[in-house]
Amino acid sequence: MQIHWYPGHMHKAQRKIREIIHQVDVMIEVLDARLPLASRNSLLEEIRGDKPCLMILNKTDLADASVTKKWLAWYNQQSGITAYATHTGERRRLQDIPQLCKDMVPRRGIPGKPVRALIAGIPNVGKSTLINALAGRKVANTGNEPAVTKNQQKVAAGKYFQLLDTPGIMQPSPGDVLAGYRLATSGAIRATAMEFEEVALFAVDYLLQRYSGALAKRYQVDEASDDASLVLAEIAQRRGCIRDGDIDLHKASEIVLNELRAGKLGRISLEEPNRQLPYRLLPPEEPTEPESDESA
Ligand code: G4P
Repeated sequence: MQIHWYPGHMHKAQRKIREIIHQVDVMIEVLDARLPLASRNSLLEEIRGDKPCLMILNKTDLADASVTKKWLAWYNQQSGITAYATHTGERRRLQDIPQLCKDMVPRRGIPGKPVRALIAGIPNVGKSTLINALAGRKVANTGNEPAVTKNQQKVAAGKYFQLLDTPGIMQPSPGDVLAGYRLATSGAIRATAMEFEEVALFAVDYLLQRYSGALAKRYQVDEASDDASLVLAEIAQRRGCIRDGDIDLHKASEIVLNELRAGKLGRISLEEPNRQLPYRLLPPEEPTEPESDESA
């Protein structure tokens, strides 16, 4: 699947973060707990260098709790990173964030020396919602479409804690094809930059492999099936997605993706550490020709 990134945005955001990084004590990188690898931007790691990072796995209300636990352990064993899983509805847990940051930079967070944290991450992971929750008021716009441009802000959150919002739009790292599908499934990619049907087929195939019970329960489809196309067509029929007498797969795809994103199929994680399920509708990779050694 071709995802249309905007290299210009990325370049600008990157440049601006490099300009302000010296004012920052801790980077708070927000990830989507359903896909904590695909929703990461590896450039942020390079830009922060030795600065400590609080990795927030957000939207845990939508993710499979047992998988989130594995991701927490996975990130916590990485140097310079403290990982914390939460969702923005958990107001009390969010209040731990300033202290977690302070623990990483004990010389800050005292009168005259607030902890200065930069909140960064790809669009739609919940950065603005988090900033508003920490600030206790609406200072950032939240949006239902990824990649909404916002201006850089500096916000006091509590007495000794200051937040800076990512200046500009950090796109996901260009990952493999499957990472692109996972991002699209989660809602991190603009509707206009993806094919609903293609993404829904990926999602149904994944669900059949990993959460077949949840899929069967929601749509009364055959959970033993291994054919995502047939299952999507069955969902279309059950939900009355018919257009001009034909099955409307686009409509069925919208239903599946919207309901999955809204958590109506239950808590679903889209990736697990060290475990990658295949996408069974992808054509098998062409064998690569061995390089000829012309100098021989
Ligand atoms: P961003 O700044 O990183 O781009 O993300 P933003 O806060 O705008 O959040 C994107 C969407 O994700 C918003 O929903 C927001 O409400 C939702 N969201 C944020 N945190 C969580 C969370 O922990 N759990 C769940 N389930 N959703 C979360 P929206 O419907 O797109 O916009 P809105 O109508 O809520 O403003």
